[in-house]
Amino acid sequence: MMKPLALGAVTGLAVIAAALGYFYSQNNGLTEAELETARTLSLASLPPLPADPSNAVADNPAAASLGEALFNEVGLSANGEVACATCHLESRQFQDDLPLSQGVGTTGRRAMPLRGAAYATWLFWDGRKDSLWSQAIGPMESAVEHGFTRSQVAAYIAAHYAEPYKALFGPLPDLAGIPAASPLGNDAQQAAWAALDADQQDAINRVFSNAGKAIEAFERTLMPLENRFDRFVAARVAGETPTGDAALTPQEIAGFQIFAGKGQCTNCHNGPRLTDEFFHNTGIASPQDPVTDHGRASAIAQVESDEFNCLGPYSDASPEQCGQLRFMSRDLHLFERAYKPPSLRGVADRPPYMHAGQIATLPLVIEHYNRASPAISGHSELTSLGLSTDEKAALLAFLQTL
Ligand code: HEC
Ligand code: HEC
Repeated sequence: MMKPLALGAVTGLAVIAAALGYFYSQNNGLTEAELETARTLSLASLPPLPADPSNAVADNPAAASLGEALFNEVGLSANGEVACATCHLESRQFQDDLPLSQGVGTTGRRAMPLRGAAYATWLFWDGRKDSLWSQAIGPMESAVEHGFTRSQVAAYIAAHYAEPYKALFGPLPDLAGIPAASPLGNDAQQAAWAALDADQQDAINRVFSNAGKAIEAFERTLMPLENRFDRFVAARVAGETPTGDAALTPQEIAGFQIFAGKGQCTNCHNGPRLTDEFFHNTGIASPQDPVTDHGRASAIAQVESDEFNCLGPYSDASPEQCGQLRFMSRDLHLFERAYKPPSLRGVADRPPYMHAGQIATLPLVIEHYNRASPAISGHSELTSLGLSTDEKAALLAFLQTL
């Protein structure tokens, strides 16, 4: 008597559960498993910002305010017109809406939005920097971005920011008479750098890297912002019915289900920033230089040999604290033409897309994933999705909630 009854009860429960699952998916709802996935993508899952042991002033408010001033400082450029904020506009999610950014010249890549970048392990589309401070000093010496040199950065800080600098980092070196000098500059700047003695080079590098450390302290205050999807998930997790703009439409919810299901987007776009912070080949062609742009595969040697990396003389970390760098994967085959998935927060408001703005609109991004064309070199990780017109529209609607 007992056995059939128990079996019947189990079958009954299963039928009820299946019916409930159907009911939820038809009624602005999600199954428990889907809700759990949604929770992992929402802002409520954002962990506290990890420490950066390579930067002793990473969380110092005085460093952040100096960093904010430097971030907006056009004086740190060859033509007196370019600041970080030229390409990273606060009003535009700290990017510039261009396929290829414009500084003193035209860069080969698209500017990246900066909110939440402090959570990233590797910086730039190809991850050729291992900290925000080391990243920040790159554009200053890039001929197409600020077009400046490190000796000019040090001299400018001595002339205009001596007080806040000394309060944070101690005395400034005497740089009188030192011309524009950099090991990465043009021939004259490289020659000027070579003419300096090792102590002068070290003193300049120290001020240069400290400028980057102040900028990092500012960038660490740029947290991701709450969006409609976060509000929807927060209400659902609390067992409440989402209201106002938190109430996602059935189409937006269906789009989330595709994002986390059939679309396989969460394979790479996961966690509360909707990026796994790793590198993937997704078959995006490079506009100008398809043969020599190897993405992450080229960046590995660059970050490893960078004197401003976590293991270098300007890092405040002990070698044991540089595990990310020491144990990074060096698989060149895997990383051929692989790039970092950007955070998808705010993505609908900042076309064009991809590392050089290769794709103009979000519907075309969805077509790219649906088709999954092979890569021009290396191997694309994508497989074609077979999404219907309705499914593509739903996925687009979901991306717009972010
Ligand atoms: C000329 C435009 C331009 C200027 C000026 C500029 N950037 Fe950028 N920024 C870019 C571009 C383009 C990229 C992507 C470059 C790449 O991956 O090769 C980028 C990437 C970044 C990233 C990486 C974000 C991530 O998620 O990996 C950070 C951080 C950043 N910039 C901060 C700064 C700071 C700080 C300054 C000033 C010192 C600055 N940028 C100046 C255009 C610019
Ligand atoms: C195999 C990993 C992977 C999968 C799966 C994946 N992406 Fe991406 N995504 C990336 C990478 C890497 C980039 C940057 C590629 C580049 O610029 O070369 C990217 C870029 C994007 C961008 C452009 C963002 C920007 O700011 O430029 C959007 C939008 C996007 N993905 C949405 C999706 C959607 C929607 C799906 C599911 C249909 C998806 N992705 C699946 C790895 C992936």
